[in-house]
Amino acid sequence: MINKILSILPGDHPWQNTLYVFDTVPSTNDLAKDMAKQGAPEGSVYLAQAQTAGRGRMGRSFYAQKDMGVYLSVVLRPNCHPEQLMHLTCAAAEAACNAVEQAAGIRPQIKWTNDLVYGSKKLGGILTEMSVSSRTGLVEWAVVGIGINCRISDFPPEIQNIATSLLCLGADTEPWRLAAHLIAALSQMRSTLFTEKAAIMAAYRQDCMTLGKQVMLLRGEEKTYGTALDIDDDGGLLVRFADGSCQTVTSGEISVRGLYGYA
Ligand code: BTN
Repeated sequence: MINKILSILPGDHPWQNTLYVFDTVPSTNDLAKDMAKQGAPEGSVYLAQAQTAGRGRMGRSFYAQKDMGVYLSVVLRPNCHPEQLMHLTCAAAEAACNAVEQAAGIRPQIKWTNDLVYGSKKLGGILTEMSVSSRTGLVEWAVVGIGINCRISDFPPEIQNIATSLLCLGADTEPWRLAAHLIAALSQMRSTLFTEKAAIMAAYRQDCMTLGKQVMLLRGEEKTYGTALDIDDDGGLLVRFADGSCQTVTSGEISVRGLYGYA
């Protein structure tokens, strides 16, 4: 697997010597975080053929099947304040769209902020986590984890109506090939993360299917309804609520009408 991936990456790729492939791990994000705490350098990539405890946002689990998807996490050390990294998940989602398009020939859309979708189903997701030094206030490390369903055709009953894979979409792609394109796209994203922020976010708006849609915002037990109007350069979602007020949403869960069972 590692040799196949390296055969696609350019010979002088900056991350080629810090790529680690595992058979099965609980979660590549947990592994990358552990390694980051132990000093793993920027560009350390942890890729697993299977995960037994893959995690998503809001404490959800992320379904994985051995050799049927890409499950990888990369350590970044941007040495900046956390407020300067607000757009990291959006930038990673853009990198993932680019990689899927290059490897599989189809371009997913993004459900704000971190889901890759195709049609009305979820193809994958991004989980970004970081640690900030209490002494300096600077980011010590950030971990970007990406999971993409490649060849899964038999999702468990509880997600079979909301999940899809490249195979289900008629774009059968070997996980190692997509992993190689993802690594290349993520390192490209890292090198332009600050210098090309406006362009990255403009591309994100183009790919984000949430814009213009009716949305439901779930915060704790409270549900509010509105329309997604725009996304700012920090990845915040501007929503106009039913009472006419507007607010930029940066956290909480957004459901898009027509997607994942929200009718
Ligand atoms: C989500 O659906 O909210 C995000 C899913 C992110 C899943 C990936 S798979 C690789 C990495 N390891 C994890 O435990 N999660 C991410």
